[in-house]
Amino acid sequence: MGAQKGDVRVAVVGYGYWGAKHVRVLSSIPSVDVSVVDSRPERLADAAAHHPTVGLAARLDDVLDDVHAVVIATPPHSHAAIAMQALDAGRSVLVEKPMTTSVADAEALVETAAARQVQLMVGHTFEYNPAVWKLRDIVRSGELGRILYVNTSRLSLGRYQDDVNVIWDLAPHDLSIVSYLLDEMPAPTSVWAHRNFHRRQADVAYLRLDFQRTDVQAFVHVSWLSPQKVRQVTVVGEKMMAVYDDLSDNERIRIYDIGVDLETIDDPLNAHGHPVSYRTGDIRSPYIPFQEPLLLQDRHFVDCVRNGTRPDTPGERGLDVVRTLTATDAVAASSAVAPNFVAPMTPSTTSIAS
Ligand SMILES: NC(=O)c1ccc[n+]([C@@H]2O[C@H](COP(=O)([O-])OP(=O)(O)OC[C@H]3O[C@@H](n4cnc5c(N)ncnc54)[C@H](O)[C@@H]3O)[C@@H](O)[C@H]2O)c1
Repeated sequence: MGAQKGDVRVAVVGYGYWGAKHVRVLSSIPSVDVSVVDSRPERLADAAAHHPTVGLAARLDDVLDDVHAVVIATPPHSHAAIAMQALDAGRSVLVEKPMTTSVADAEALVETAAARQVQLMVGHTFEYNPAVWKLRDIVRSGELGRILYVNTSRLSLGRYQDDVNVIWDLAPHDLSIVSYLLDEMPAPTSVWAHRNFHRRQADVAYLRLDFQRTDVQAFVHVSWLSPQKVRQVTVVGEKMMAVYDDLSDNERIRIYDIGVDLETIDDPLNAHGHPVSYRTGDIRSPYIPFQEPLLLQDRHFVDCVRNGTRPDTPGERGLDVVRTLTATDAVAASSAVAPNFVAPMTPSTTSIAS
């Protein structure tokens, strides 16, 4: 069903923590009609209480004929089957991160979207975040100098997930941000993941990612088991350094005019000579007007559905991130040294790929 210039009818499948936010922002976009699909009646009742005008259904089958597009915000293992059902029916699809839980499923979605000539988009929300756009401008302008490494921290007493580990749950954001900044996908070279309070899944992890073209390493720390909420990306350049703090109200990016220079120590007997000298200067914080990233993302999806244009975060981008996440499982499994030390993600039980 092709969308006309007027209304776009969208079904949001999954009215949980994140699906409820999709419903809120989509309902605020002019000429968009929203239906909510959730298998749990209490979630539909909650949707009706907050959004009296939306349609309600227990199954996607019940509304698929009446919508142009489908947004999928169910748990990750269910993404592939629901997305395939919608694409097969000729509907455009926005799938939450991680797009799928296997590479084969992600490839199947990308192929089906191309064959049906509909839009497949992945919900890499940070690529619609004006602070991340600004950070990319800063990196690209060269003012930080050659990028040496990137460090990301995504920590809190988090929402434990059952069907994916902390890497698959949180690191898609960091993979999407850092690969967007550097315009390159990384290879994971080391993974340390530990299961503390979950029966099967790791709840704390550290990744090292190598970006070969740009010769940059990224270190990613993700945790559901940390006392403080932290959402930070630090980019360390040869000349300057930048910190993006997503939780800051008015200084989401700070550029530090600081660094070190290598000292030449001529006298080998001078054991007290410093190996480096320090440069210190101003700290600047560029103005970044606030715009809700999820609203920008969903508005972009609606525009793509309306105009038949390719999304900025197409299915191929979701596939790239799923490939990297899958590689983290392999690296983690190969470096397991003790029963709880690493916990690769439990394999998908709902794969659509044979
Ligand atoms: N982009 C972001 O910043 C962001 C943030 C949070 C979550 N997410 C993603 O959103 C997705 C949902 O996460 P959540 O935290 O909202 O989960 P959740 O468990 O809170 O909600 C999932 C909802 O889906 C419903 N559901 C499950 N299977 C269904 C099916 N087959 N048909 C209809 N309804 C079904 C459940 O009843 C539940 O209401 C995940 O993929 C997660 O990674 C993205």
